[in-house]
Amino acid sequence: MSNQQKQKNKIPPVPDWIGNTPFPPEKKRPCKITEDMYVAFLYGFIGTQVENHVFVSTDKVTMAEWILPPGSHYEPAGFHLHGDECYYLVEGEATAFNAETGETFIFREGEAMLIPQRTRHQIYNMTNRRIVTISCLAPKVWADDGMGTIIPQVEHPRFYKGPEEPAYKEAPRLEYVSPPTKRSIDSLGNWPAPGPKLRETKQLTIIKPEDHLTLIHGKEKHVLFSFVVSNDYFHLAVLKVPVAGISELESHEGDEVINVLEGDLCVRIPISEDERMDSATYPHSWLKARESMLIPEGVKHQYLNFTNDVVKAYVAIAPKL
Ligand SMILES: [Fe+2]
Repeated sequence: MSNQQKQKNKIPPVPDWIGNTPFPPEKKRPCKITEDMYVAFLYGFIGTQVENHVFVSTDKVTMAEWILPPGSHYEPAGFHLHGDECYYLVEGEATAFNAETGETFIFREGEAMLIPQRTRHQIYNMTNRRIVTISCLAPKVWADDGMGTIIPQVEHPRFYKGPEEPAYKEAPRLEYVSPPTKRSIDSLGNWPAPGPKLRETKQLTIIKPEDHLTLIHGKEKHVLFSFVVSNDYFHLAVLKVPVAGISELESHEGDEVINVLEGDLCVRIPISEDERMDSATYPHSWLKARESMLIPEGVKHQYLNFTNDVVKAYVAIAPKL
């Protein structure tokens, strides 16, 4: 094999931050993530880049925000071998494009797009405002051996009247899956459709707020969880803590990452299993909008709202609730 060929076949190293932000798996502990802790990088070829800020990346889940300026798009198309991804739009209007099928979807602030594993996705900003998105991916961005760091290019992106359009073979017909209109707690784990089914159809799925699986959480203390996605890889929800609200103390069979969208959120994590319930003081973390927190698997936590407004946060839990 020539040196040039060897170079071509060389798998690029996995960036250090993947799976290790803010801590490597063996050192994971609850941690508040402020803006100065974000891991920043640019994705894409020069001139078609998107600015990324990673909040958390563990061995189970990665959450980041990315910003795409007006009139721009990112290139090459995203493609994840090892996880589903969900974009939640916090600012602007995004045009999503699947280069393999030519399918194009527009989604706006407050709406989300689920990207099943191995599904091509690219975002164009056709507006005069920037796009700000929170992205969540689970279980893994790239594999430990580096596989997935080479993204195979789409030879003939399917643009309407694109230059190569006559060369296309007819694409297989996709079966479209819409979120069911009937919803119940039993839909948890299969929202907006079972994960394996969407992965098979490679369907980019837009999830509007009216398509959320909204559930009241808690035995006695109630908060609102509106699930955007709930499948075998991850659960993503918009959490609303009402004024003076308090959530039940709970833990998960998975890592949780919370990012505050609106308001100030108080997060209480008991310091020990036998923390006295009649203690006079409880330590807590105070999260402002855009701040995040990592709550590793099995760690008990509780959300409280001491403000005059509803607190809204984006919550990812992976793999199990
Ligand atoms: Fe939780």
